[in-house]
Amino acid sequence: MTRDANTPCYDARKMSSDDASVPTEHLLSVAVDAAKAAGSVLLDYARSGFQIERKNPINLVTDADHAAEQCIIDHLRRRFPTHRTLAEERGVDGHGSSPYRWIIDPLDGTTNFAHRFPVYAISIGVECGNDLLAGVVYDPSRDELFTGEAGRGAFLNGRSVTVSTTAQLDAALLVTGFAYDIRETPKNNLDHFARFALTAQGVRRTGSAALDLCYVAAGRFDGFWEVKLNPWDMAAGVLIVREAGGRITDLRGNPHSIHQPELVASNGLIHDEMLGILGETLHPQRLPPAVS
Ligand code: IPD
Ligand code: CA
Ligand code: CA
Repeated sequence: MTRDANTPCYDARKMSSDDASVPTEHLLSVAVDAAKAAGSVLLDYARSGFQIERKNPINLVTDADHAAEQCIIDHLRRRFPTHRTLAEERGVDGHGSSPYRWIIDPLDGTTNFAHRFPVYAISIGVECGNDLLAGVVYDPSRDELFTGEAGRGAFLNGRSVTVSTTAQLDAALLVTGFAYDIRETPKNNLDHFARFALTAQGVRRTGSAALDLCYVAAGRFDGFWEVKLNPWDMAAGVLIVREAGGRITDLRGNPHSIHQPELVASNGLIHDEMLGILGETLHPQRLPPAVS
């Protein structure tokens, strides 16, 4: 937990009246409404059909991504016309001085959605200055709503969640993902994946980083790492993991920011072991000799 939810995140004297100190529960309830509305949009497209385009050979976008994003932005604009937004498909919107910024992934897990594999979610996080205040990840296929509010805990469908108590990597279930440039660069996470596959109890790849983070928060996974995420993949989930008692750093154990691409999220207990494995891969000269 990071801050007292009643403390204004910004100097209210410098802000217009509709910007000054919006209660975090109000931010959260607007985010929940927007995420649920976008969830209905996604389910409608899943039932009735959708068009697929390619951003690159393996990076897809559908008309459902765009429609869900429009639905969320319309919701937010009605409630908070001066707030800024950063959304995956349309980028930055709103150039005012509001300290509030909504960070939106309208469909995290587009590849799954396009293949009718029902593991995808809407992710909406709210920042004030550099502080994450509220986050929502909604899985419409399971009707699972993960929420977090700074200083007030993490919840799944209204029930408090906490990270797991797994204390050792060899008993841990981990999860990861791969960026869309996997075919084009050696920095593609396959080295880390191979190491963890040999040291953890199991490693999964769900295809939705937002859900991966929430599953760490809820104790379904013990740890998660990725090397090339965007702010919209992480904003809500990072807050939810922190509020569930988890630990988040970059790959070297430094403080994490959602505006840099690397992330390790865990229950805290296995974090140093995870960093040790990542360190071995980051410094290949320390690799043990190959077994013949
Ligand atoms: C992707 C998913 C995936 C992760 C990729 C993301 P998208 O987001 O979160 O799990 O491995 O790095 O880009 O494209 O489905 O919104
Ligand atoms: Ca995403
Ligand atoms: Ca997306």
